[in-house]
Amino acid sequence: MRKPVIAGNWKMYKTVADAVDTALAIKRLVANANHCDVVIAPVFTALKTVVDRLEGSNIRVAAQNCSTEVEEGAHTGEVAAFMLREVGVSYVIVGHSERRQFYFETDTMVRRKVLAAISSGLTAVMCVGESLAQRDQGIAEPVVSGQLSGGLSGLTASDLDRIIVAYEPVWAIGTGRTATPEQAQVMHAFIRRVFAERYSEEAAQALRILYGGSVKPENIAGLMSKADIDGALVGGASLKAESFAQIVNYKNG
Ligand code: PGA
Repeated sequence: MRKPVIAGNWKMYKTVADAVDTALAIKRLVANANHCDVVIAPVFTALKTVVDRLEGSNIRVAAQNCSTEVEEGAHTGEVAAFMLREVGVSYVIVGHSERRQFYFETDTMVRRKVLAAISSGLTAVMCVGESLAQRDQGIAEPVVSGQLSGGLSGLTASDLDRIIVAYEPVWAIGTGRTATPEQAQVMHAFIRRVFAERYSEEAAQALRILYGGSVKPENIAGLMSKADIDGALVGGASLKAESFAQIVNYKNG
């Protein structure tokens, strides 16, 4: 069975002190959560402190981005995946729609970041998702399959256990407008089929596919009841320890 993942993407919020406060509060509130992997993604400057303060807990730490470059070098402003690994980071979010939209990340850059993450021992949480215009035009599936092929070309079947896919329809991010569990399920099943065709049925069945876009304590259980939804990437509702913990503990809610 696939173990669910509930991940909080803190985006560009929280000072180091705020990040530590929230992380420690989450730690208390999710201490008994064994049914899923719990992940939080603070800003770069808070990563090491948060990792250190969470040592021995059931929470893992993600970065929100990494360099396309694998080796150190003259790349002003970049942080390499192996440097994230060095400070105890376990996951990295790659290809978030905000990075694609506002920082012009292409599928080729996403692919290089995924490869850098994997070769450095991180798990890549690769984000895909269509815009509202693309959904309205009826091209959501080709858009997502294009992002998957672009982002994952060059990967071998053995790399796949270090890949998590997050389906985040752009129209649902930060808008309060969640995809219905049925809409999300249709796309998740499609993503799994793409993996089955590209790799193998076994790899597809093992792949964890998270939903992201206005996930809240009120809608997590409905989403998690769907066969192909294996967790959530949570933005706004992950910023407060209580609401994030409620999402993590959706089973008891
Ligand atoms: P949201 O963000 O939950 O605030 O919609 C999700 C994300 O961007 O990962």
